[in-house]
Amino acid sequence: MMNVLVTGGAGFIGSHTCVELLECGYQIVVMDNFVNSTAAAVDAIKKITGKEFPFYECDMLDLENFEKIFQENKIDAVIHFAGLKAVGESVTKPWLYYHNNLVSTLNLIALMEKYGVKKLIFSSSATVYGAKNPIPYREDMETGGTTNPYGSTKFMIEQILKDECVPHPDWSVILLRYFNPIGAHPSGLIGEDPNGIPNNLMPYITRVAAGKLPCLSVYGDDYPTHDGTGVRDYIHVCDLASGHVKALEKTETMQGADVYNLGTGCGSSVLDVVHAFEEASGVKVTYKIAPRRAGDLAEYYADATKAKKELGWEAKYNLLDMCRDSWNFTKKRMEQEAAGK
Ligand code: UFG
Repeated sequence: MMNVLVTGGAGFIGSHTCVELLECGYQIVVMDNFVNSTAAAVDAIKKITGKEFPFYECDMLDLENFEKIFQENKIDAVIHFAGLKAVGESVTKPWLYYHNNLVSTLNLIALMEKYGVKKLIFSSSATVYGAKNPIPYREDMETGGTTNPYGSTKFMIEQILKDECVPHPDWSVILLRYFNPIGAHPSGLIGEDPNGIPNNLMPYITRVAAGKLPCLSVYGDDYPTHDGTGVRDYIHVCDLASGHVKALEKTETMQGADVYNLGTGCGSSVLDVVHAFEEASGVKVTYKIAPRRAGDLAEYYADATKAKKELGWEAKYNLLDMCRDSWNFTKKRMEQEAAGK
């Protein structure tokens, strides 16, 4: 069975994918610099799976330390999650985003070359489709026209990785374009817990429901959507995790670069999510209508047929499941905080 290096393995999507990999029998080596995650997630992965693995607290920009991982382990494939991901922050700190996300990936590519690692899965984003494509988004649509440095790093890294497959025809690279991951592992031991005031919808909703923030601002109710609020393709993070394992299997039988959407194919509005959350949790979410947020699109969701056909993968969880698991994680976190942990 392959030994898989997971960069950013303590993060939201990374930690859930580590669990899925271990449960499918893969060996893993995990690295994270903990800028937006904690060692508790690493312990939780071990607790959920009952399995051990090497962990490195390491920054991918620190090439010398990063190389030690390749010296000390025989790596067969890499799943590269590590990266900065806050859209708004990327607008105020473009250098930080370009430097961090691009140089870390370039370091990874150099080490893959040096150590003969030929399989790579990369965390891309639906944001690479830009604003001009019709919905649902299909993998063969033109990409680019990204509107913030975060999105531009995803677009650029996709291009870099496609270019790397030209002189390395025996590499197998899969770019996964995520839609909106929410939910948490049903154990409630790992989930999304951002530092500070959340930017994204579900962490904001759970903080309002927990009484830590007074009110959700719904950014715009005059979009051309079924109820006027913005529509996205929310996907359970455990479905996303299983998509990575399917992509890894695919690297065994393909060469070159290929790209897959990981979405459900269903669009839900902000108010659909609020109402589903209230139904799943039994807790009321106070909200008010606020102006549109700069840079938001009215509506997009995935065409999820390519991943179904070629990877044999499709999402299993619905919006209520996602809300239930996000709330379960939040409640567990609050219990831990109350216990002083
Ligand atoms: N929203 C609110 N109130 C909030 C937060 C969000 O109404 O407090 C709305 C947004 O306007 C949007 C929807 O909820 O309509 C989802 O917003 P998120 O911030 O959760 O997610 P986005 O779709 O804006 O962003 C996601 C990822 C980014 C990625 C982007 C584009 O978080 O990483 O999709 O693909 F770049």
